[in-house]
Amino acid sequence: MKRIGILTSGGDCQGLNAAIRAVAKSIYREEKDVEIYGIENGYYGLINGIAKKMKPEDFSGILTLGGTILGTSRQPFKFMRDAQNNVDKIADMKETYRKMKLDCLIILGGNGTHKTANLLSQEGLNVVTLPKTIDNDLWGTDMTFGFQSACDIATNVIDCIHTTATSHGRVFIVEVMGHKVGWLNLYAGIAGGADVILLPEIPYSIKNISAVLKEREKQGKRFSIIAAAEGAISKKEAKMSKKELAEARAAESYPSVAYKIAHDLEEASGSEIRVTVPGHFQRGGSPCAFDRVLCTRFGAKAAELVKQEKYGFMVALRQNEIVSVPLSEVAGKLKYVPTDCNEIAAAREIGISFGD
Ligand code: F6P
Repeated sequence: MKRIGILTSGGDCQGLNAAIRAVAKSIYREEKDVEIYGIENGYYGLINGIAKKMKPEDFSGILTLGGTILGTSRQPFKFMRDAQNNVDKIADMKETYRKMKLDCLIILGGNGTHKTANLLSQEGLNVVTLPKTIDNDLWGTDMTFGFQSACDIATNVIDCIHTTATSHGRVFIVEVMGHKVGWLNLYAGIAGGADVILLPEIPYSIKNISAVLKEREKQGKRFSIIAAAEGAISKKEAKMSKKELAEARAAESYPSVAYKIAHDLEEASGSEIRVTVPGHFQRGGSPCAFDRVLCTRFGAKAAELVKQEKYGFMVALRQNEIVSVPLSEVAGKLKYVPTDCNEIAAAREIGISFGD
């Protein structure tokens, strides 16, 4: 009898249930004598021993369902161990794994999740992971699931803003999620036909954005759309230390970066600027067709690794092949947008500004 635990950890995204379903369906087909345990609310459930035995039917009818049937939570890696306060959540998780007599653990998560998954693997647990996040910032895979679905939503926001901006002849900033990297904003910005795309990887200058707006006005264009990544930073901010930047942002107390850019740009350009922040909307709802396929491929591969007892790996997409990558290669690394990538070059080629 094989006993398998499965959990989803960190911020949710579209496709979690599609991936859980694929893992479970493949496992039930491949393993004759198996039990799958759903660990609730991510690492929280593993730390506190909260899990339920799943039935095959629990994994049916969830392909298109948003969110995660297992629940999730954020359990930051830096708080996993605190010797001073006698906290050792890694030890607690190992204890639950032992008590539940698990043979392996399947973990669906993003960056923070992978740091912990790697540590659990180094500490002797049998771990297989799947890369999820709308940010697409996970090292080792060309794409994470959730990214394309969020991209469709963010693109739709820009499309809708386009029509109202056109009617009124207004300048709009749409703030797109993505944490510290610009993948989501780059893709949604290009797909939505933004005039200016601001990425964390390419610090902006208000003067330059203002010049773009002026130029568009001169050409008789009545509106402009700026797609700003939530992690966008100015050239001045790029020179600051992490601490200085946090202090400067706190002193200005804007709700988010789009409001800061709008304020600075209104001062510099004299244009009235509207801000739209779709926020968590971008993580909600059904996975798009691309993600459903990707999740199915990832899930089948994860089940194959479990069958082969090949542990300590993340399933990944590389040049349209599904492969496995050692967790030690993935953990703790962010996949930034390369500033010389083809997407940016093509966008620049057609006249999109990056505010630099
Ligand atoms: O990592 C996914 C993500 O949606 C990021 O794009 C965003 O910065 C963050 O999570 C928001 O986190 P929370 O859901 O904890 O507010």
